[in-house]
Amino acid sequence: MEANQPSRTAQGAALHRAAHQLVDQPPVFADALALRIVGDEAADELRAGQGRQALVESSFLRAFIATRSRFTEDSLAQAHERGVRQYAILGAGLDTFAYERAKRFEGLAVFEIDHPATQGWKRARLGEARIAIPDSVTYAPVDFEHDTLANGLARAGFDSGKPAFFAWLGVTPYLTRDAILATLAFIASLKPGSGVVFDYAQAPGALHSAHFEAMAARVAALGEPFRSLLDPAELVRDLARLGFTRIENLGADALNARYFQNRADGLKLVGRGHLMRASV
Ligand SMILES: C[S@@+](CC[C@H](N)C(=O)[O-])C[C@H]1O[C@@H](n2cnc3c(N)ncnc32)[C@H](O)[C@@H]1O
Repeated sequence: MEANQPSRTAQGAALHRAAHQLVDQPPVFADALALRIVGDEAADELRAGQGRQALVESSFLRAFIATRSRFTEDSLAQAHERGVRQYAILGAGLDTFAYERAKRFEGLAVFEIDHPATQGWKRARLGEARIAIPDSVTYAPVDFEHDTLANGLARAGFDSGKPAFFAWLGVTPYLTRDAILATLAFIASLKPGSGVVFDYAQAPGALHSAHFEAMAARVAALGEPFRSLLDPAELVRDLARLGFTRIENLGADALNARYFQNRADGLKLVGRGHLMRASV
């Protein structure tokens, strides 16, 4: 991220979720606030069908961004049923869970952790969109490269004596491998019953992907270059070494089977995006 600037990829991810509500029927991830949080101008452009060709070309990425939120909140629901009452959203960007869908999760405390510049910008955006901030959400500004998640959560009143579920979406590619493993080690040190879902981009193998190369060039031009591409088998080993159990890696085929069967529009995932779910 550029110093003191809100994340531009956070707006990008939110635009994909907003477009998903309009373009993909039925949405894999229904988000009633997605169009409000991106701002009136961007929402009007989407509604007017501007950039329609770009929407067709970006369907794989849009599908992945929608699916990672769906899978995370499905996993959160399971954790909540098991009694987990703390949900930490790392690198929250313009995630809207806390402002609408959280109502279905009785007694859940939500912690939004993000880079201070992005978090300040989001809070201004919530105000402009007249989206009320419930008492159940607490903001914890943290720069993962210079501060620890443990410090940020402690400052926000997180109870490390109780289990928590963590979402970490769209963030790991922008961090160093050391920063990623340090955050995972912290989550692994929490109470049994805790868990995490995160996504990552698979390191390029023999197959060259023009889509992926184009995306890498785009985010680098926004000042947020990819810094870590990970190998699934190595990552599973790292998670096991950190003490995680029930480690599940889901690539495009597994996610297509779960969420994209029998769609009339043919929407599906293609590419190097993976989701990882692991328990403590
Ligand atoms: C692509 S956005 C994803 C936002 C959101 N999770 C989503 O899926 O829409 C990347 C997020 O990572 C955060 N981020 C990137 N580098 C960070 C850092 N060093 N410390 C804290 N947050 C960081 C950005 O502020 C931004 O919110």
